Amino acid sequence: MTEIKIPEHLAIIMDGNGRWAKKRDLARIFGHRQGADVVHDIVQYTSDIGVKYLTLYAFSMENWLRPKDEVGFLMKLIEEYLNKEVEEMDKNNVRLLVSGRTHLLPDETREIIEQSIEKLSKNTGMVLNLCISYGGRSEIVDAARKMAELVIQGEIELTKIERDEFGQFMYNPEVPDIDLLIRSSGEIRISNFMLWRAAYCELYFTDTLWPDFDKKIIDEAFAEYSSRARRFGMTDEQMADEDE
Ligand code: FPP
Repeated sequence: MTEIKIPEHLAIIMDGNGRWAKKRDLARIFGHRQGADVVHDIVQYTSDIGVKYLTLYAFSMENWLRPKDEVGFLMKLIEEYLNKEVEEMDKNNVRLLVSGRTHLLPDETREIIEQSIEKLSKNTGMVLNLCISYGGRSEIVDAARKMAELVIQGEIELTKIERDEFGQFMYNPEVPDIDLLIRSSGEIRISNFMLWRAAYCELYFTDTLWPDFDKKIIDEAFAEYSSRARRFGMTDEQMADEDE
């Protein structure tokens, strides 16, 4: 049997809340509420089994275009989640980061996010990176703007900027490239998620809707991940040399 490898950076596109609710003749918000309970379980489980970074796509730039009521509900749900979970995350030594255009968030949501990040900032266990008001293309545009500003100010030389240097301008640059990306609900797309850091990630798709997602699917995805040969554009022989 293949030894189970735990990806250092696991990212999840949590999709299917609306369809889960619709199947039960419920309003979409009930799917989101159930989805938040699953977030709790998955944060706990991944932290227990040794994932170092867990990135969750909680609210995209495109989600701002949803009906106002749904957007408002999602903001409240994120606030409620952080208020409720911060103590437990602290007990589990989880640190929190938030990636995205957070200046677009309502003041109250931003304040709760900032307080939670601060409260958990000394923790040394798993890093939970919540993507909120996040778009992969916006992240790259924001990085280019930050870099250009420093070039204009004469603080950096454009010719010194290569891939790794540019990567340092992304949101929360300490977060490494994604090793495994899981998407729920049967959709087979990336949807503008972590474009820079997804460059060489392994992809795993499940038909399960996010509110029905559970740790068994994490186990299945890790088993599949462990069986894949990651070559990063190199040959098997080169990879074997790198492992030695
Ligand atoms: C996609 O399902 C999901 C979202 C847009 C929101 C994700 C939010 C949560 C899982 C809960 C809150 C998050 C946290 C961190 C507490 P969808 O609505 O697009 O589903 P559909 O494709 O079936 O319509």
